Amino acid sequence: MDAVVLVGGFGTRLRPLTLTRPKQMLPVVDRPMIEHVVGRLGEQGVTRAVLSLGYRPDAFEAAYPEHRCAGVELFYAVEPEPLDTAGAIAFAARMAEVDDTFIAVNGDVISDFPLVDLVDAHRGNGAAATIALTPVEDPSRYGVVVCDSDGKVQAFVEKPPADETPSQWINAGMYVLDPSVLDLIPENRPTSIERETFPALVQKGSLYAVARDGFWIDAGTPEAFLEVQIALAGGTHIHPTAEIAPSARITNSVIMDHAAVAEGARIADSVLLPYSTVQAGADINRAIISPDHHINV
Ligand code: GDD
Ligand code: MG
Repeated sequence: MDAVVLVGGFGTRLRPLTLTRPKQMLPVVDRPMIEHVVGRLGEQGVTRAVLSLGYRPDAFEAAYPEHRCAGVELFYAVEPEPLDTAGAIAFAARMAEVDDTFIAVNGDVISDFPLVDLVDAHRGNGAAATIALTPVEDPSRYGVVVCDSDGKVQAFVEKPPADETPSQWINAGMYVLDPSVLDLIPENRPTSIERETFPALVQKGSLYAVARDGFWIDAGTPEAFLEVQIALAGGTHIHPTAEIAPSARITNSVIMDHAAVAEGARIADSVLLPYSTVQAGADINRAIISPDHHINV
């Protein structure tokens, strides 16, 4: 199966890290975020990932010139202008000539959601689209979904006010789409799948959902970018090329390649990006450090 992977956003919530690189080329533990995402798709049977590119597409083409990433074939679809989520999926699917049922995912979601359950449900429900749901504590920064006991979606509300969230279940950013969905998406203007396409499918009774509780993180904010690193590292991870002074103390942190930590520094619940340095005696807590920036989370 083909999967369209949305990676064309500006990554504004991760600025300044994303001023020079797209969000999905930022490192997560030991490799760029995109390799985690595409790798998991490949493990679940996806054979071609169609990258929907917009912001800084050259970064992907330079990193994967052979059109392969984590064992999966890549197709590059570069938008002429930002087309928003639905416009981007449709543009990429048309460019790559996707003509069968396909998967689409947000390229900043790292999760163990079983896509096979989504595909199975889609085969049985006859819907135009079947989407994955995951529970979260604060649904207001996500697409909030209400469905009936058969999985038919009753309401899809993108980023409702915090006191008006109708459920804890949110759009996990993974979809199985029938090619007929593409016909609902205009070719020449930005269209949001969350604000336009999914609500239109709800009206027609043609949007279904599969809800699962498991590992799921949208790594698009500083807090979540930090959280996903520490979760995947399973505690402290220190790259062999990092230079850690003997008296430095590091707990629950990810120290990437060529980072340096001087004598007496204490680092807790933090991420040191490649080539970053921490001075002697510094006390770093819940921070993301790059060579040029220090982001407190
Ligand atoms: N190609 C392209 N063009 N990609 C885009 C564009 C665009 O115009 N706009 C956004 N993207 C990409 C981003 O790079 C990201 O991978 C994905 O689309 C989703 O955009 P985000 O900006 O990360 O959205 P969000 O996190 O606020 O909300 C979305 O994800 C949540 C789950 O993680 C929505 O889909 C929510 O409904 C959902 O709950
Ligand atoms: Mg996101």
